[in-house]
Amino acid sequence: MIILGIETSCDETAAALVKKEGNKIEVLSSEIATSLEMHAKSGGIIPENAAREQIKSILPVIEKTISKIPHQVRDDMAWLDAIAVTYGPGLIGSLLAGVETAKTLSLVWDKPIVPVNHLHGHLYACFIEHNPEFPAVGLVVSGGHTDFVYIKDHGQIEYIGGTRDDAAGEAFDKTARIIELGYPGGPAIAAAAAKCKVKGEKLKIFPRPMINDDSLDMSFSGLKTAVANYVKVKTLNTDHRSLIAANIQEAIVDTLVAKSLIAIEKYRPRSFLLSGGVAANKRLEFCLRKVAQSISKSPQIYVSSVKNSTDNAAMIATTALYNYRPIHWSEISANPSLAIDS
Ligand code: KG4
Ligand code: ZN
Repeated sequence: MIILGIETSCDETAAALVKKEGNKIEVLSSEIATSLEMHAKSGGIIPENAAREQIKSILPVIEKTISKIPHQVRDDMAWLDAIAVTYGPGLIGSLLAGVETAKTLSLVWDKPIVPVNHLHGHLYACFIEHNPEFPAVGLVVSGGHTDFVYIKDHGQIEYIGGTRDDAAGEAFDKTARIIELGYPGGPAIAAAAAKCKVKGEKLKIFPRPMINDDSLDMSFSGLKTAVANYVKVKTLNTDHRSLIAANIQEAIVDTLVAKSLIAIEKYRPRSFLLSGGVAANKRLEFCLRKVAQSISKSPQIYVSSVKNSTDNAAMIATTALYNYRPIHWSEISANPSLAIDS
């Protein structure tokens, strides 16, 4: 089965052709256009601008994706089985660009549509290169979400805890702005933190709220206030910036790892899936693997590869291939506030 995946929930316009044979996933082509540079200039995403860029990029990105299929085969669309598209959560203008395009292609090519939850897409990024066993616990850490889920089997996803306020990626982005590291903040903070030589207690400047309770709830909104207050009394030079960056990263990583350990001990899964843009953070992966090694009956840890962690369409097509529930194009509509367990 071959599915065309379309992803436009935020500032990336992505399309991919993915094939599944048995449990083997093959990404035939995957293209991404991003309006990141534009948002870097404005210091964050302006939804109207992101939507406008989606509309500009969507058809060229799909054309480029499909051009990888040989000419002789391409003209007759018989090789394609369905179109999968992200219908939420995300920015409404951005989502509509993908959903309306998918509907039109579905009508013109006479192919069914498979609606995909963007957050499931992040989890299934781990299935592109691996075959994790169930039951699994997943942690989706992105710019808009920090959610723990219990996955009994394909499509059986239950929310079990997460942030009460800001997402971990949002905390990286907002604190990076305070210390003038630009957007997106996660990679910028990781790069600045890598230059910091300091270790141990000196990396405990900022608070880790809720880290000591045994729930899976987290809170990251206090971090930006703590960073803003700290910066008020310090002059920012390169050394200082990297010390603050390392402290921000350590506060976020410590919290995510402590809560992951609670989730593992409570649910005893066979697999633990770490995915979403923040999963690209190498310090997070290192600390998670280290702590998992220290416990008995540790689950197998799967971290989506860097190229599959941030928004892409291969993860959307892969989700649809494992959860093939096609519908008619007239039945789909975008849902910006779609929950992870719906
Ligand atoms: O999943 P994603 O591409 O988009 C959303 O669905 O939100 O995640 C984007 C988020 C941003 O907040 C970005 O700062 C963060 O992922 N991010 C990182 C890293 N790379 C991206 N955070 C920490 N370390 C990284 N290396
Ligand atoms: Zn995402």
